[in-house]
Amino acid sequence: MSETYDVVIIGAGPGGYNAAIRAGQLGLKTAIIEKRETRTLGGTCLNVGCIPSKALLHASEHYEAAATRFAALGVKMSGLSLDLGQMLKQKDDAVDGLTKGVEFLMKKNKVAVHYGAGEILAPGMVRVVGEGGKTTDLATKNIVIATGSEVTPLKGVDIDETRIVSSTGALALSAVPKHLVVIGGGVIGLELGSVWRRLGAKVTVVEFLDRILPTMDGEVSKQFERILKKQGIEFRLSSKVAGAEKTKTGVKLSVEPAAGGKAELIEADVALVAIGRRPHTAGLGLERVGVKTDARGFLETDHFRTNVGGVWAIGDVIHGPMLAHKAEDDGVACVELIAGRAGHANYDAVPNVVYTWPEIASVGKSEEDLKKAGVAYKVGKFPFLANSRAKTNHETDGFVKILADAASDRVLGCHIIGVGAGELIAEAVSVIEFGGASEDIARTCHAHPTRSEAVRQAAMAVEGWAMQA
Ligand code: FAD
Ligand code: NAI
Repeated sequence: MSETYDVVIIGAGPGGYNAAIRAGQLGLKTAIIEKRETRTLGGTCLNVGCIPSKALLHASEHYEAAATRFAALGVKMSGLSLDLGQMLKQKDDAVDGLTKGVEFLMKKNKVAVHYGAGEILAPGMVRVVGEGGKTTDLATKNIVIATGSEVTPLKGVDIDETRIVSSTGALALSAVPKHLVVIGGGVIGLELGSVWRRLGAKVTVVEFLDRILPTMDGEVSKQFERILKKQGIEFRLSSKVAGAEKTKTGVKLSVEPAAGGKAELIEADVALVAIGRRPHTAGLGLERVGVKTDARGFLETDHFRTNVGGVWAIGDVIHGPMLAHKAEDDGVACVELIAGRAGHANYDAVPNVVYTWPEIASVGKSEEDLKKAGVAYKVGKFPFLANSRAKTNHETDGFVKILADAASDRVLGCHIIGVGAGELIAEAVSVIEFGGASEDIARTCHAHPTRSEAVRQAAMAVEGWAMQA
């Protein structure tokens, strides 16, 4: 052991690496530890999450557009075919470039990188177990746990990453399955289900609850289900997979009504288990130092402080949305608190985007949330069918919905289905962060012809003066 750090961060995902960058900027002596076998930084998000999934969504979206939408635009295609190897390679190239970019950012901000598994020996002392069992002990004033999350397993459906896969296996299938059964109609199921459907698979989604994307605004879930059905995805709602039997060529799944009842056998080439993620804390030494977790294994924190002095936690391993940008915000706020500054992450203004075609984006409260909380609200809605750019581009599915406080007009939520929704939501996020009103959006100039005008029209609709529908 040679030196004492101000901060040692365990885990180099979006939480950990952004915390490290901010710590470097603030002049804190910082080290980061990452145990991924590939010895790459960036965590779940860059290696097996956000980035590779978006690379496949983007490429498969072009493939489908060429096959089904180009002709109507007067672009003739012949001999269109899929080069799956190249599609997977360009995904790997994106991952490679971005993970190397994080390495560069660590150097730039003078952050020491240790590859190996981090284990807390005591507050102020972290051991790194590296290749061949070689250990290095790091003394530090602060420890930040940023170890992220892992796939929630499903009893009776054992993941082998070939026939029964998690999202990681579903990002690297060597051939397009004839039939892909997705267990879980959440974000991963619908994004990766969309990828393989576009590339030619029949896709069946088995969802336990009576709706897909159960945490999103109900109206959005309903319309989105209709759109995905039109695209060919089949849904078994209020259903569960009770067991799986691997065969020589695929897997037989026993699917039952969620409430119990007669099982039905569904055969698939590949089954994807996507029923959620759980905090990843194995081997960290939490029991040894007495760091508390809740019943589901999440670390309990108060402004990122655990119950043990000098031990902090951020990202997927603590409460709040399991999203990369939330982990990033946690990391920045946590390090600012460590540095003696004010640090805060506002979970009411965390956007949530599903990168399908069209995209779904939301921020703030849903109608269901507001009803439950007894908050009086007004709704403004505008369909893309009445937006000039959407009509011009023949991309009219979806709508913008803005929810505002009935008394103060403060924007409480925004929900969008539509092409480019993931970019459009940024405006509503800023307005919510500034505590702005729907009238602020309605009276702000928006470029014509853009899809962003639909956001303005929805804001006008809150007070009943939408002009273009
Ligand atoms: P992680 O990214 O999980 O990083 C934690 C790191 O810690 C890992 O690299 C792990 O190896 C390391 N680690 C764990 N234990 C130890 C230890 N003891 N010692 C050393 N290292 C350790 N979110 C979005 O916002 N947008 C998206 O589009 C999106 N797409 C996704 C797609 C998929 C398929 C998946 C699975 C997730 C996606 N997510 C997305 C979620 C996002 O990846 C996570 O919310 C985010 O990565 C959480 O960041 P984190 O830093 O908390 O943890
Ligand atoms: P999820 O929580 O989004 O969805 C899981 C779904 O599975 C839910 O609809 C749930 O009701 C259902 N389910 C649970 N148990 C089931 C069972 N036994 N049988 C059938 N259905 C069952 O989790 P998912 O999709 O695995 O994603 C994990 C996390 O990763 C999410 O919390 C999300 O935040 C993050 N993520 C974010 C993305 C994005 O921002 N675009 C993309 C992918 C993942």
